[in-house]
Amino acid sequence: MTSSDAKTQALRTVVVPAAGLGTRFLPATKTVPKELLPVVETPGIELIAREAIAAGADHLAIITAPKKSGVMGHFDTDQELEATLESRGKDEQLRRVRGVNGLIKAIPVEQEKPLGLGHAISLAEDVLGDDEDCFAVMLPDDLVLPFGVMEKMAEIRKKHGGTVLCAFEVPREDVFNYGVFDVEDSGEEHVKCVKGMVEKPAVEDAPSNFVATGRYLLDRAVFDALRRTKPGKGGEIQITDAIELMIQEGHPVHILVHEGVRHDLGNPGGYVRACVDFALRNDTYGPGLRRWLEQRIKEDDDKSLVSGLGLPS
Ligand code: G1P
Repeated sequence: MTSSDAKTQALRTVVVPAAGLGTRFLPATKTVPKELLPVVETPGIELIAREAIAAGADHLAIITAPKKSGVMGHFDTDQELEATLESRGKDEQLRRVRGVNGLIKAIPVEQEKPLGLGHAISLAEDVLGDDEDCFAVMLPDDLVLPFGVMEKMAEIRKKHGGTVLCAFEVPREDVFNYGVFDVEDSGEEHVKCVKGMVEKPAVEDAPSNFVATGRYLLDRAVFDALRRTKPGKGGEIQITDAIELMIQEGHPVHILVHEGVRHDLGNPGGYVRACVDFALRNDTYGPGLRRWLEQRIKEDDDKSLVSGLGLPS
């Protein structure tokens, strides 16, 4: 039996590549890993952990880099902080801090050199149990909303076996930022068969407008493909190229075309949108933010806004 036969196992391990330098977010990321930047009050890495748990996983393999130990620290118990909050009667804050303790078994995997997303994923092989025939990758830069996409992808794997990826349809001019799928219809709504995949092609070479976002449900066979994958775009080992190799060798790959929202937390513009989106839905901050935003946009429309903030450079 090959690992893609439908002996469909439950998902246990989610791999989170978190070794990047966060260059688009400097200088903030000089000392604070971008995975710890909060969306309202919850760091991106915790959102990912909660999404992973909801999808049934109990292990988070965090691919981390030297100097990024704070990401792992978020899952540690801080007894001193808890005792202080307790003695001051800060029950709500204590509840939030305790909510992270033991949330999921977070395992650090160090990537010493930035050799690419495919290389980062390949390092997680040792974390998987011998009997795990699939695992997930969740890129912490990508917030895919509403939550729950991995559960839908698991349903697709149950039916078709193999590997299942999450896709969005983007305007043609944006495809060069992504892994792009060559697809054909599967006969099922929102599901397409993948005939090929190419990393960040020129717009004129892109096989479609369906692009990979940060949710992958990968068959274990990907580790073997990664071992045979040569450096590609940017001189890095690309997960896209390993998946393309698997497709060419007959491995079934499908995409779930997600019709929700995606926020790119890895750049300030996308991050701010995510914060506004989450804050608007928050009972404490939402109503006040909505009133302020409406007023603020009206000022812009009226051109009555004093330009610039006067922030010293
Ligand atoms: C990575 C992948 C790319 C994918 C993207 C989704 O690129 O290489 O195929 O479409 O994530 O966010 P990155 O954004 O890390 O350059």
